[in-house]
Amino acid sequence: MKQTLAILAATSLFATAAFAEGIAPGDVEFVDGAVETSLSGVPGNPEKGAELMNKGAGNCIACHSVEALAHLPFHGEVGPPLDGAGERWSEAELRGIVANAKIMFPDSMMPSFYKTTGFIRVGDGYTGKAAAAGEVAPLLSAQDVEDVVSFLVTLKYD
Ligand code: HEC
Repeated sequence: MKQTLAILAATSLFATAAFAEGIAPGDVEFVDGAVETSLSGVPGNPEKGAELMNKGAGNCIACHSVEALAHLPFHGEVGPPLDGAGERWSEAELRGIVANAKIMFPDSMMPSFYKTTGFIRVGDGYTGKAAAAGEVAPLLSAQDVEDVVSFLVTLKYD
């Protein structure tokens, strides 16, 4: 029992530290699908954002083509091309779309990248056990989202 409590305490300490710097996924405020406030409070780095669009991270290009990232192979066509996204959408709208696209586009296939609750069936893919509340990490960190958004705002029509 004592040991369980110690583990619980350690887990919640970790969770608090992980989100101490920004807005936790459950506390993000959406207005018409857009999020005005920076999730991390630290300006995004567009170069880092461009890297996060690639496979193995946000994997955005699995579904979207982006001319500015033409050097990366295998762009998908499930979602619309993102060229000009920085003109079609405001920074707040882009932040909302990346954090939780399902608010801007109900029933979208696009994953919610900054969300840890409300999933229909989350669990550990290996053990098959359901994850307890608070144990699911968002697909992208608050700073990752800011980095991706800062890259998206650079996507203008030429
Ligand atoms: C599984 C496929 C998929 C992935 C992965 C995905 N998206 Fe999407 N995305 C979509 C679809 C589909 C739409 C169109 C909206 C809808 O569902 O109606 C969309 C819409 C968008 C839009 C608005 C499109 C526009 O310009 O009008 C943006 C911006 C966007 N996605 C950014 C991203 C970013 C950034 C990532 C990676 C962090 C990403 N998407 C990952 C499928 C995806």
